[in-house]
Amino acid sequence: MQLTPFKLERYFARYEFNVKYLLCSSDCESLSIGDLLALEPGADEGLKRHWLGYTESSGGPSLRQEISRIYTSIQSEQVLVHNGAEEAIFLFMQAVMQPGDHIIVHWPCYQSLFEIARSIGCEVTFWEARPQNKWALDLDELKRCLRSNTRAIIVNTPHNPTGYLMSQSDYRALNSLAQEHGIILFSDEVYRELEYEPADRLPSACDINPSAVSLGVMSKTYGLAGLRIGWVATHNAPVKDRMAALKDYTTICSSAPSEYLSELALQQRDRIAGRNLQIIHDNLTLLEAFFATHADRFEWIRPKAGPIAFPHLAGQEVEQFCHQLVTTSGVLLLPGTMYDHPGNHFRLGFARKNMPQALAQLEQFLDANPTSGGLA
Ligand SMILES: Cc1ncc(COP(=O)(O)O)c(C=O)c1O
Repeated sequence: MQLTPFKLERYFARYEFNVKYLLCSSDCESLSIGDLLALEPGADEGLKRHWLGYTESSGGPSLRQEISRIYTSIQSEQVLVHNGAEEAIFLFMQAVMQPGDHIIVHWPCYQSLFEIARSIGCEVTFWEARPQNKWALDLDELKRCLRSNTRAIIVNTPHNPTGYLMSQSDYRALNSLAQEHGIILFSDEVYRELEYEPADRLPSACDINPSAVSLGVMSKTYGLAGLRIGWVATHNAPVKDRMAALKDYTTICSSAPSEYLSELALQQRDRIAGRNLQIIHDNLTLLEAFFATHADRFEWIRPKAGPIAFPHLAGQEVEQFCHQLVTTSGVLLLPGTMYDHPGNHFRLGFARKNMPQALAQLEQFLDANPTSGGLA
């Protein structure tokens, strides 16, 4: 298996811990262990007593029980816990794909969502989200992509990097289409619960489509990436069982303290997601003013959910712009080229408490560089 380097992760590896302002994070503001333990009386004592042996390979029963509450039809034995969403993506692809299979992937996207299948020898068709459609996916286009050997459709909504949230009707139609054709829908739902309007929240694919696999994680909506706990939820027992068998060769089981803390956080998920949504709403107000002021340089499609957007930069090559910005102001933006996207966009992240300061730095940079060494 030959895996191409993960461009976005390599870019973050270079900058994430060396810059002052991350203005392109894909996750929400985190918490300290102390802050998390303080949400539940007695939780600190519970952590001290928590056993440090191996945990159950599929995830501790009480953690799986707590995860199952996110869904309307899922029992704890239909949940398989992983180390991050990333392990779940890797194992799903290994469990389901054979060389020569075809998959259709919502694009641009987090690279592992297609790269692992490609490394197995699958044919990959991108189902492209385009700015002229406000990043909306076109179901007719999907139908034209279908082939007799299409094994899976991979979608991510709310979406990294565009912030696009599929409509209820399109999402249901997508699930029906996948079912009709016997194709597994892999639904990356790591940003679920971050809809700006609660009524826009989509059902989890696993609750409306018996063969679909829903992906969740502690990292994004709950801001607890350091726990490295992710999961899949599905009624598709053969796929879940194959993933579980493969997990014996990757991590066997998750970290016991992380399982304890994840369960605690999920018991408080409304509070934690609610706090993060409030940070997003506050920051969106600032961003709207920012983009109105700088309409000559940037064009953005305001998301309906999630902590990220994918604005367009006018007048300068985006990698050069991001490089100048990070070297002179210590503000990190992620050029769209890290998704191999050619449209001169960049990823903006706005679920961090220090976003106002980061935005002020960007504003100063723009003022100091009215043409920004090349901006028309
Ligand atoms: C859409 C999407 N899916 C999955 C992942 C992987 O999540 P984790 O880092 O928690 O494993 C990411 C991380 O950025 C992501 O953006």
